[in-house]
Amino acid sequence: MRSPSYSSPSIADAVIPSAAPQALPTEPRFHQRHVETTDTVRKELLDGLTKPQADISPKFLYDELGSSLFTAITLLDEYYPTRCENQIFSRHSPDIVAHAGPVCSLIDLGAGDCAKAERLLAHMRPSHYVPIDISVDYLKTAVKRIADRYPGLDITALGMDFFNDLSIPDEVHADQRAFFYPGSSIGNLPPDHAADLLANIRRQCADGALIIGVDLVKPREILEPAYDDAVGVTAAFNLNLLRHVNAILGSDFNLAQWQHVACFNEARSRMEMHLRARVATTVRWAGGERRFEEGERIHTEDSYKYRPHAFKAMLARAGFGQIRYWTDEREWFAVFCARA
Ligand code: AVJ
Repeated sequence: MRSPSYSSPSIADAVIPSAAPQALPTEPRFHQRHVETTDTVRKELLDGLTKPQADISPKFLYDELGSSLFTAITLLDEYYPTRCENQIFSRHSPDIVAHAGPVCSLIDLGAGDCAKAERLLAHMRPSHYVPIDISVDYLKTAVKRIADRYPGLDITALGMDFFNDLSIPDEVHADQRAFFYPGSSIGNLPPDHAADLLANIRRQCADGALIIGVDLVKPREILEPAYDDAVGVTAAFNLNLLRHVNAILGSDFNLAQWQHVACFNEARSRMEMHLRARVATTVRWAGGERRFEEGERIHTEDSYKYRPHAFKAMLARAGFGQIRYWTDEREWFAVFCARA
């Protein structure tokens, strides 16, 4: 804690911009917005499952086991994005933070364990940290750690689905917000939805900045193994989605009948994950069923890959300016920083 203002004035005290007394340290605050009801979730799943070309949203990849499997994916030799992005932040965080300009609040989209933001906090000194994830419960442990390490930092943890609604509460000052969206999760959205999300962020970001991780287009020979690794972790990650769906719907997907498929759709510039029926099978749940022929697929994820100029144009169309990006040495991944 800083000493009271009259004892031993120092240069550090003199340069603090406001003479207002420092607020007492506040406890982290937690807010949870509209949780999806099981009915809505079931309806969404059944809509996708009963389409002629079945699909299931990639959000169902992340139950407890799925989240652990994703962590394991980031350790695979073939899965380059996490390592590339870490390299970019290790080398360029000071430049990225300088380009973002002064930051009052750091808004962390999909914060999870808050580890990536914590690395930025060493360079950027916001007064308010706002981690957002789908459930505020996921943020509890990490927020406690950050509150211990940064005693003066105000923390508001938000549980909300920022794909649907990105309204930031008033307790987060409207000026100098830096939005942080690492990990290239923007790639899960089709480009028109990604553009909408960027525009939503821009609207919430009066004079602030956006720092975002984006995976870049590269040869199929690199992309496909990254989504179909030799150990089979990504296959397990994809198949686990059926286990998660069985738990929600009470359906009877037999995982042994399904095969993980990952392919680069070059025309659409995206990696696709599917589950392919190894045999003809009928999946049943209370009140319905769906027959799958041998070879029929369920589409489970798209992961769009961008060319730097295309992503730059998308940021510009969303209303951002002063757009810069940094890449790893192989130029496989980019971190963009754009000013509002
Ligand atoms: C967490 C969405 C960035 O698309 O690369 C990893 C998820 N899917 N392996 C990605 C994922 C298959 C990942 N994102």
